[in-house]
Amino acid sequence: MSHIEIRGLSKTFGAPGTGGVLALKDINCTIANGSFVSVVGPSGCGKSTLLRIVAGLLDYSQGSVTMDGQPIRGTRNDVGVVFQSAILLPWRTILENVMLPAEVLGLNMKAARERAMQLLHMVRLDGFEHKLPRQLSGGMQQRASIARALLHDPKILLMDEPFGALDAMTREQMNLELQRIWQESGKTVILITHSIPEAIFLGDVVFVMTARPGSLERVIRVDVPRPRTMDAMGTPAFAKVAHEIRGIFDHTGSFD
Ligand SMILES: Nc1ncnc2c1ncn2[C@@H]1O[C@H](COP(=O)(O)OP(=O)(O)OP(=O)(O)O)[C@@H](O)[C@H]1O
Ligand SMILES: [Mg+2]
Repeated sequence: MSHIEIRGLSKTFGAPGTGGVLALKDINCTIANGSFVSVVGPSGCGKSTLLRIVAGLLDYSQGSVTMDGQPIRGTRNDVGVVFQSAILLPWRTILENVMLPAEVLGLNMKAARERAMQLLHMVRLDGFEHKLPRQLSGGMQQRASIARALLHDPKILLMDEPFGALDAMTREQMNLELQRIWQESGKTVILITHSIPEAIFLGDVVFVMTARPGSLERVIRVDVPRPRTMDAMGTPAFAKVAHEIRGIFDHTGSFD
């Protein structure tokens, strides 16, 4: 089975030997194809750095990162990235925004348009194709940016605190949507979040990272059956995982 394999990964910002920042230290993990990985950890522990390395947007200092046995170095076409704010181009319609990767990658525009319409349906934005971003709510814009990240049919969807700016109710709604989208698309998803409940609700596993130098402290399996509803958050299985994660942060003296 194909997967992402990270071995002995370290990342230092700044020139070696000049007191650079060691952002990641000896990260080792395997991410199975089609799995949902949540990443939690205190601010500055290297979560975004790890995501950018997997996306091929950032070079690393030591170790290896491979996907299906091939080294990840340099930008690649088989990942889609969603950031904290939707970053849609304000002068383009939602459909034109979703089709952006097709222009950048030089894909067939007719096929891309069809796929964009399907994706907009999947994220429940039918009827909003020709609206401008400002005519949509924050949650709707974020759903459009998820559709855009999936346009070129990437194997991996990388999300860096995508719901951080949303109100609690919209955020719960987005969590349910993302679970459904992930189950329907079969993609590998890596989600960075500051919310422990969100990490557990969505993840097959939760990667718990600790403060500088950023290291992967623990990989916790979430044995809560799917599809999960918000009520799952009140179950003993859920509480047990949350307790375990909080225990790691208490123990290492870092808090979220
Ligand atoms: N381009 C850069 N140049 C120098 N240092 C950097 C750079 N990017 C990140 N760092 C440093 O690397 C460390 C990890 O940063 P990173 O953004 O990955 O943290 P994070 O876990 O995503 O934090 P947050 O939860 O606040 O988003 C921090 O100490 C940060 O200052
Ligand atoms: Mg970050």
